Amino acid sequence: MRRFVIVGQKALASDEFRLDDLPGTSGRLDILARCLRAALLSSHGLRRDVVVYLVLLGGPRAPRVVRVSGREIQFLRPDERSLAVLMQKVLASRADEGASGFVPVRAGISVAQGELEPVLADAAGAPVFVLDEAAPDIRALPDAALLREDDAGALFVLGDHLGIPAALERRLDAAGAVRVAIGPVPIHADDVVAVVTNELDRRRVGS
Ligand SMILES: C[S@@+](CC[C@H](N)C(=O)[O-])C[C@H]1O[C@@H](n2cnc3c(N)ncnc32)[C@H](O)[C@@H]1O
Repeated sequence: MRRFVIVGQKALASDEFRLDDLPGTSGRLDILARCLRAALLSSHGLRRDVVVYLVLLGGPRAPRVVRVSGREIQFLRPDERSLAVLMQKVLASRADEGASGFVPVRAGISVAQGELEPVLADAAGAPVFVLDEAAPDIRALPDAALLREDDAGALFVLGDHLGIPAALERRLDAAGAVRVAIGPVPIHADDVVAVVTNELDRRRVGS
């Protein structure tokens, strides 16, 4: 099991964006859509051992978290527009209003009110890693720190084009998060997800 958390600093927590101008009208939900693809899809299908949390901090319905579970989701198309259509349908739901924790909206997709708290509660016991290009390299970590086969699989947290807000970084530090880099050069968020995925794939195949 592996988990990715992508923090969208201005990503809209509602469905009021235009599919024909996703980057310009959604607070960059396009970045989060690409991260979803990178985390959950291999070229042959779905990665059943992955959970993705999209933390949406933009607009009047924020903060909300969308959780997508590879184990339960039935189908996920790889193109950005289809992923945006899916996000729009999910974000139109009001099932999470007044509820606590994740509320199912469709197969494999749930929504919660809040920012990091529902994620940390959902992944209780998981080792938390914050992706930070200034941190020690992930390759210095032993396999045992990264590869967990149980439900407490490691949680990898990264930012969007604006990075991770300082308040959330402090919350992650308080939760005992470990900072790791996947190389010295800052790269795009979806590329970070792909590189971490590849790192874990290599270790699992080699172990
Ligand atoms: C496009 S970067 C954000 C750049 C933003 N200007 C900033 O200062 O954070 C998106 C996220 O990817 C992660 N990231 C990018 N390059 C990385 C690297 N080489 N190692 C680890 N994490 C990286 C960080 O979590 C970052 O918040």
